[in-house]
Amino acid sequence: MTRFARVAGTGSYLPPKKVANQDLVAQLTARGLESSDEWIVERTGIRFRHFADDGMHASDLAFEASRRCLSAAGKKAQDVDLIIVATSTPDMVFPSTASILQHKLTEAALADGDSVGAAGGAAFDVQAVCSGFVYAMSVANAMIQTGAAQCALVVGAEVFSRILDFNDRTTCVLFGDGAGAVLLEATAHDGDGPGVLATDIHADGKHRAILCTPGTVAGGAVVGSPLLTMDGQAVFKLAVGLLENTARAVLEKAGKTEADVDWLVPHQANIRIMTSTAKKLKLPIERVIVTVDQHGNTSAASIPLAFDHGVRTGQIKPGQIVLMEGVGGGFTWGSALLRL
Ligand SMILES: CC(C)(COP(=O)(O)OP(=O)(O)OC[C@H]1O[C@@H](n2cnc3c(N)ncnc32)[C@H](O)[C@@H]1OP(=O)(O)O)[C@@H](O)C(=O)NCCC(=O)NCCS
Repeated sequence: MTRFARVAGTGSYLPPKKVANQDLVAQLTARGLESSDEWIVERTGIRFRHFADDGMHASDLAFEASRRCLSAAGKKAQDVDLIIVATSTPDMVFPSTASILQHKLTEAALADGDSVGAAGGAAFDVQAVCSGFVYAMSVANAMIQTGAAQCALVVGAEVFSRILDFNDRTTCVLFGDGAGAVLLEATAHDGDGPGVLATDIHADGKHRAILCTPGTVAGGAVVGSPLLTMDGQAVFKLAVGLLENTARAVLEKAGKTEADVDWLVPHQANIRIMTSTAKKLKLPIERVIVTVDQHGNTSAASIPLAFDHGVRTGQIKPGQIVLMEGVGGGFTWGSALLRL
């Protein structure tokens, strides 16, 4: 018998403010910048994104997604002994968004009449930008496999609207806010049951400048630009090759081939990157979960948002094999292969 981390539940949350391409195009036009719904849809597949209202933080989105996830799993906050939040738009410099989330979950549990919440378990953030969720899955899986954790809440939560330059038409149309969560629970079987089968994560800092938010806080002020900048074409070219490499690597680690994959749940950045990766893996687009049209690139939140959608719509069924993969600033990339 081997110890595995199985998916016990999923959840996601998009803030109520839904912004259509036409709304953004109108804002850009008012600033003297040309764009169109057609251009955005054709080049990216994005039709809508959600923006958090002022005062709504990554932990608030994470909280809503986590509550839905715990409810789907039939678990309480007290069952969770590890919280990992993948985010590049944390509530504050410190403490971690995971610690803040843990406290919000505990307060909600106490308000529901439970005698304890999630306090006392481990909680920390991982920062690998759009690959953050597969990084977090990889860490949580390793901790569960070694017995360091029993029940891990793995969350991707972002408020990218806070770091967008709305005078840059090449980036502001691409990103949105949201959160997704997966509850991983320890189980044991001979290898044919549910659980994470393999993970694969990488980084190469030499590409750090093609996608970054270079500003920092020093001397009581923001030093450098706090807004996202990107060389879109360079990112595109690099992403397609890296996603194919990590997909093949994770399959090999698990002793599987692309023919074993029932569902590809890619980072939802751009439909053209997703279709070209699927093509390289000889997976028809019907086996790819696509939600990018509804929420744009939500960075670390996009994979769990898409995964939750696939599970709740009944597309992804128990026993099926799911390949998650992501790529992002750093440059970082990685994947996770699991059986639901
Ligand atoms: C950003 C991206 C959509 C641009 O698409 P593209 O087909 O590469 O387009 P180009 O950069 O060649 O630009 C083509 C033209 O459209 C223009 N353009 C850019 N944004 C525009 C917008 N929102 N509306 C209208 N025109 C726009 C460009 O300025 C350029 O004009 P020019 O030819 O006069 O210079 C694409 O490169 C991409 O998706 N890259 C990856 C981004 C990504 O996924 N990042 C996150 C990874 S985690």
